[in-house]
Amino acid sequence: MTITLSFMLQKGGVGKTTTTGILAYLLNRRGKNVLVVDMDSQGNVSTLLLQRSVYTFSNETILEAVEDQNPRPYIVVNSDGIHVLPADDLLAIYGRRIYELQREENRPGVPLLYLKQTLDVVRDEYDYILIDCPPSLNEQTLSALAASDHVITVLQAEVYAYQALTRFFETLFYVKKNVNPALVMTGIAVGLTDRYTLQDSILEECLEAYGSLVFDTVLRRLARISEFATLGITDSRKDQKAALTQYENLLYEILERIESNFRDDSIYLRALENRLYYIEEKLLQEDLPEVKRARFESLREETIQYINVAKEWV
Ligand SMILES: Nc1ncnc2c1ncn2[C@@H]1O[C@H](COP(=O)(O)OP(=O)(O)OP(=O)(O)O)[C@@H](O)[C@H]1O
Ligand SMILES: [Mg+2]
Repeated sequence: MTITLSFMLQKGGVGKTTTTGILAYLLNRRGKNVLVVDMDSQGNVSTLLLQRSVYTFSNETILEAVEDQNPRPYIVVNSDGIHVLPADDLLAIYGRRIYELQREENRPGVPLLYLKQTLDVVRDEYDYILIDCPPSLNEQTLSALAASDHVITVLQAEVYAYQALTRFFETLFYVKKNVNPALVMTGIAVGLTDRYTLQDSILEECLEAYGSLVFDTVLRRLARISEFATLGITDSRKDQKAALTQYENLLYEILERIESNFRDDSIYLRALENRLYYIEEKLLQEDLPEVKRARFESLREETIQYINVAKEWV
């Protein structure tokens, strides 16, 4: 059975694309059939795996594949045999385009599921489909999550990335509730860590709040890894092989969790309760203008309803 994984956090530059590309490389090395889908208009994973400028993919990207509901003509195979559905900067219109397809071309179904429907055409031909997401909670990301069995987040131990986690879990809640109930949050990979910052308070806090989800493997910042952006991913030298070891370890942990049906569905409840706490703090402010008060009150109602749903998942 095909396993579809998204790599996502709405915070830029934390190592999502590098991790997606390297895990695809390692799975391919193990003889697996791998498709990598680039849902980021930066086209970074396309460039990493195909070693071509993002502009050379124009008109032959995942956007056109979704428009045609047929990925086959748009799949590019790299020199290692990894299949890629590339992106270019025009993928930025994806959110608008899927609603146009629904409205103007009467495409049936939910626009957030058009990516899934497109991938379904070739899904059975792959052991793994890996989707690289943009650093934002937009339709590209929601569509990727709607098309996935599992989501992995890559987290840099720094304050902005950590703060993004709660909102990220709220988004996962939305996707699970509305379009993809089977989606599993499989784990948090802490990345881009320098050796001496491991005692970082952010990491400690993350372990305290989401310890069950954090992988043991920590992805260190290594010069050999950053070189792959220009060289392509390779293990032809000993030092490159050594640099890939941390990703081998991460892959091992991910596959083990998938195999053992690991999940912790309490994260959604915790994220929503955090949100409610924040809303109630707001409502306690005596000088809160009436228009804002009305907004926060309706938000409170909605959040309480969501909390009731999330309680049933635990
Ligand atoms: N383990 C690592 N060691 C050294 N450099 C790394 C490592 N992982 C990623 N990088 C470098 O860090 C930068 C950001 O990584 P990457 O593009 O993977 O992040 P991202 O989360 O996908 O970013 P974006 O949010 O913009 O999509 C890149 O230049 C990449 O080469
Ligand atoms: Mg990226």
